[in-house]
Amino acid sequence: MKVPNLPSELPLDQVLVGDCVAAIERLPAASVDVVFADPPYNLQLGGDLRRPDDSLVDAVDDHWDQFASFAEYDAFTRAWLLACRRVLKPDGTLWVIGSYHNIFRVGATLQDLGFWVLNDIVWRKANPMPNFRGRRFTNAHETLIWAARGESSKYTFHYEALKGGNDDLQMRSDWYLPLCTGEERLKDSDGAKVHPTQKPEALLARVMLSASNPGDVILDPFFGTGTTGAVAKALGRHFIGIERETPYAEAARKRIAAIKPLPPEAFAAAPSKRSEPRVPFLSLVEAGLVKAGEIVVDDRRRHKATIRADGTLALGPAVGSIHKVGALAQGLPACNGWTFWHVERKGGLTLLDTLRGEIRAQMATT
Ligand SMILES: C[S@@+](CC[C@H](N)C(=O)[O-])C[C@H]1O[C@@H](n2cnc3c(N)ncnc32)[C@H](O)[C@@H]1O
Repeated sequence: MKVPNLPSELPLDQVLVGDCVAAIERLPAASVDVVFADPPYNLQLGGDLRRPDDSLVDAVDDHWDQFASFAEYDAFTRAWLLACRRVLKPDGTLWVIGSYHNIFRVGATLQDLGFWVLNDIVWRKANPMPNFRGRRFTNAHETLIWAARGESSKYTFHYEALKGGNDDLQMRSDWYLPLCTGEERLKDSDGAKVHPTQKPEALLARVMLSASNPGDVILDPFFGTGTTGAVAKALGRHFIGIERETPYAEAARKRIAAIKPLPPEAFAAAPSKRSEPRVPFLSLVEAGLVKAGEIVVDDRRRHKATIRADGTLALGPAVGSIHKVGALAQGLPACNGWTFWHVERKGGLTLLDTLRGEIRAQMATT
C-alpha cells in the first residue's frame, strides 16, 4: 500500500493512493469544507448472485467490500469518520452515501461521534437493477446522510439557488436521478465497467451546488473513479481524493484531466435573498424610479394605492408601508409589497421588485 508523505499544505486536486485513514491523518486539522464519502457497502454477498435463469449477476463482490463481521465494519466506519471529523472545518459538512446494508450503522456511528444530521436524502434511481429472485422489493434507492460537523455549525446551504432550479419550489429530500450509464460510465478496452459502483455526476453536482462554494475543498476518502474530482473541477471547487486501489486512482486521474471547468458565471454562488442589500421603498422615490403621487396597482389592477413623498402608500385614509397597505387592500394579515404592487410603464405593468433590482444593480457597481 503506498501512502505518500504528504506535505503540510493541502494536496489540492490530487489523487492519493493508499488507505484513507492513514492519508487523512496526514492532513492538517480543520482544513476541508465538505467530505463526500461513498464507503464500501459491506454487501455481505455469500456466493454468486444469480438470475432466475441461473445467469450470473455482475454484483459488487470486490475484495474492498469484504468485512469479516459487523463489528469489523463498525470499527472501520468509526476510524474513517473520526479522521474526517478532525480535518473538517467547524462549519463543514459531511455527506455519506450507502444502501440498507450499511447506512444505518454509519448513521448511528456518526451521531455517536458528534456529527449533527441535517437531512437524509433518498436518491431514487430512475433505472434500478431489477430484483432477480423476486422475493423482496426492487432495491430502487440509496440513502445519503448530510450532517454538520456539530450541532452549532453554521453550514453552507444554497436554499435560494436550489429553489430557483426547481421551478421556485423548495428542493425536496428525494432526488430522482438515473444511474451512471452511457458516455459517463468508464469502460476498459474490452468494454467492461472500470468500477462496479461509479456514481452519477449529477448526484455529486447536486451535493456540491447545495452545500459548497466555488473554491471550497471537497475531500473524498473513497474516490473510486473520481466522480467527486470530475464534478469539483467542472464546478470550480478543489478536491482531495484518496483511493486504495492503484488502477482506480489511475482511471480517476485520467478522467479528471479530460474535464474542462465550466465558465465561472455558470456556477458562481447566486446571492441569497438574505445577503442582498436592503433597499427601502423611499430609495425608489428618491432615485426617481417611482414618483410621489403615482398610482400602484396589483397584477389584475383590482387594488390601487397612491405613492406618497415619504415612501409610504395611501389607501383612502390609511397610510402605511408598501407591505402594510398591500395586506390591508387584500384583507390579509401580511403581504410582500415588493412582489404585490406594480407601476404602469410603457403600456404594461412593472413590479416594484424589478425596480428594486435596478437599485441593487447600481449598488453592486458603485
Ligand atoms: C463505493 S466505491 C466509490 C465509488 C466512487 N464514488 C465513484 O463514483 O467511482 C468505494 C471505493 O473505496 C475504495 N476503498 C475501500 N476501502 C478503502 C480505504 N480504506 N481507503 C481508501 N479507499 C478505499 C475502494 O477501492 C472503492 O474504489
